[in-house]
Amino acid sequence: MAKTGIALILALSVVVVPAGSALSEIKSGSEFLSPELRRQQADETRNPAFFWVEQGRELFSRRPAPDAQACIACHVDPQQKLRGAATRYPQVDAATGKLLNLEGRIEQCRVERQKQPAFGYESPELLSMTAYLASLSRGLPMQVKTDGAANPFFEAGRAFFERRQGQLNLSCQQCHDGLVGQKLRGDTISHGAGTGYPAYRLEWNDVGSLHRRLRACSLGVRATQFDYGSAEYLALELYLAGRAKGLPVETPGLRR
Ligand code: HEC
Ligand code: HEC
Repeated sequence: MAKTGIALILALSVVVVPAGSALSEIKSGSEFLSPELRRQQADETRNPAFFWVEQGRELFSRRPAPDAQACIACHVDPQQKLRGAATRYPQVDAATGKLLNLEGRIEQCRVERQKQPAFGYESPELLSMTAYLASLSRGLPMQVKTDGAANPFFEAGRAFFERRQGQLNLSCQQCHDGLVGQKLRGDTISHGAGTGYPAYRLEWNDVGSLHRRLRACSLGVRATQFDYGSAEYLALELYLAGRAKGLPVETPGLRR
């Protein structure tokens, strides 16, 4: 009897292992691109998003006003010191308890430390700066915190991800877990990892943030589009980043 019990537990744990590893099998968005687009993404001379990275690099070194400090004045040697920073965002700001993504952290430094007006979400400046700083973490695995103070945000993001919404009554999960690999309007549905953002999207003819992509998905199911930088999308971003733990940062991405 005891033996059967143990055998059953072993059998169950065998079943549990592949289920548990399903999460670690999440693949980056670029794996679902055509081989040509994937090659183009990796090629600095053919991926237009590298232009934004370059702009961000310049902006980082430039004084915004004669009496203001450049970012680089405080952040010397960004290639070394800020490499890896993007892998830890979104994160809870210890001082305010707010969830900040990389955009939010940049704006905080811009306003509080550089004493300049915020760039504004989706402005070319913030997109460039975010693309530049994220590109410094290219190839490094995502490692956001999802426990402790971050946990309520992570769980709110999960609830959002799993909730059916919009006129089409579809959850994010139904597409980005259930229909991965299926075609939808010329795209192949990915896991929605978000590790390539800000990304250049051919449909936009522009670089856009992850929140712009989320707004496109919300619109796709005729659901509420939340604001750029909204609490809802920040929590969702943390959940996506938590799911994508271990996947390398690929910013700047290139998408259809
Ligand atoms: C009807 C199916 C559908 C639903 C529902 C949906 N999406 Fe998407 N989503 C897509 C398609 C198609 C794309 C473009 C192909 C791809 O990258 O998956 C996409 C792209 C994305 C991407 C960009 C991935 C990349 O690497 O470029 C993210 C992130 C994402 N979705 C998140 C979400 C979230 C979060 C929700 C819920 C609010 C959601 N999606 C709802 C179909 C859907
Ligand atoms: C007056 C000095 C100063 C200026 C100017 C400044 N920062 Fe900061 N920045 C800091 C300090 C201090 C921190 C917090 C360091 C810490 O505690 O990790 C920080 C943190 C950051 C972080 C988070 C790093 C991490 O590892 O999480 C980013 C990203 C950042 N700054 C970007 C910028 C950008 C972009 C600019 C220009 C728009 C800028 N900073 C201007 C001092 C400055």
